[in-house]
Amino acid sequence: MTQLTIRRPDDWHLHLRDGAMLAGIAPESARHFGRAIIMPNLVPPVVTSEQAAAYRARIHDALPLGADFTPLMTLYLTEQTDAADVVQAHKDGIISAVKLYPAGATTNSASGVTDFDKVRGVLDAMAEAGVPLCVHGEVVDPDIDIFDREAVFIDRVLDPIRKATPGLRVIMEHITTKQGVDYARSGGETLGATITTHHLVINRNAILVGGIKPHYYCLPVAKREEHRLALREAATSGDATFFLGTDSAPHIDPLKENGCGCAGCFTATNTMSILAEVFEQDEALENLEAFASLNGPAFYGLEPNGTTITLTKGDPVAYPTKIETGDGPVTVFDPMMPLHWRVS
Ligand code: DOR
Ligand code: ZN
Repeated sequence: MTQLTIRRPDDWHLHLRDGAMLAGIAPESARHFGRAIIMPNLVPPVVTSEQAAAYRARIHDALPLGADFTPLMTLYLTEQTDAADVVQAHKDGIISAVKLYPAGATTNSASGVTDFDKVRGVLDAMAEAGVPLCVHGEVVDPDIDIFDREAVFIDRVLDPIRKATPGLRVIMEHITTKQGVDYARSGGETLGATITTHHLVINRNAILVGGIKPHYYCLPVAKREEHRLALREAATSGDATFFLGTDSAPHIDPLKENGCGCAGCFTATNTMSILAEVFEQDEALENLEAFASLNGPAFYGLEPNGTTITLTKGDPVAYPTKIETGDGPVTVFDPMMPLHWRVS
């Protein structure tokens, strides 16, 4: 196969930031994607429906003229979140989901949740009103090894929440482990899982072998090869549980190449070329559309996009290694392999 036409894909987990960074990187997602679930971990975080509506307007302002891109907004769950505001914002079409960050788990998560009992009322109201919960699934306990934090979260936090709040629609975001794949598969129709582009390509060696490689550091951190292979199998299987959420997370180079470097891989620019390469390697190109364009909208109760994109195979694709933004340069994820599929 040298040409593949699929419904326009969506990104079910994206960081667009704000200000000069937003202006620089929003076009990178708008080029190929129809919609994206926009993460609310700004400084300060997006915690009210008014803030979400204002942020959505700033995103629209940052898009190139005529862009076919719809930001789907989220609210950042805190222990003070007002259940009525969440339900109303969802009813009014201002938000598509709520984001749960365990406090301290990742970038700008300090306002997240420490005591999960304190958000029980909000979660009950969300289950009742059909508002999906996007979950960053890692415990923060210092005694839990960083490579085990996802698996422990499933047992200690996620499974109890789902049992206490039946009917709550949950998206396990950016799963990185075999345990995540297995749990998502066993969760029935109220449970979905997103998988990033980079976790399909790298294992933890990419970060640590031959010198420390800050541009491969993200959270949840990439795990052992057996976990990457489990993610590949899940993503390329066509199983409706799994869909694309790139977690494309730009940080300027000085903050990545740093004594305490920020977590995040920036993949918006070359994700579709990487995915086509990955699905071709796994002889599953016929399932790329399910993963990138169909399973996500189905989980969120939306129609797939009405337009299509065409991927064409040819000579290695040239793409920028950095995106210049008003805040500084952002390095584009290097998949360490030539890419042959371009979006035409
Ligand atoms: O690598 C990550 N970067 N993981 C997250 O959970 C947050 C994100 C960011 O905002 O930079
Ligand atoms: Zn993220």
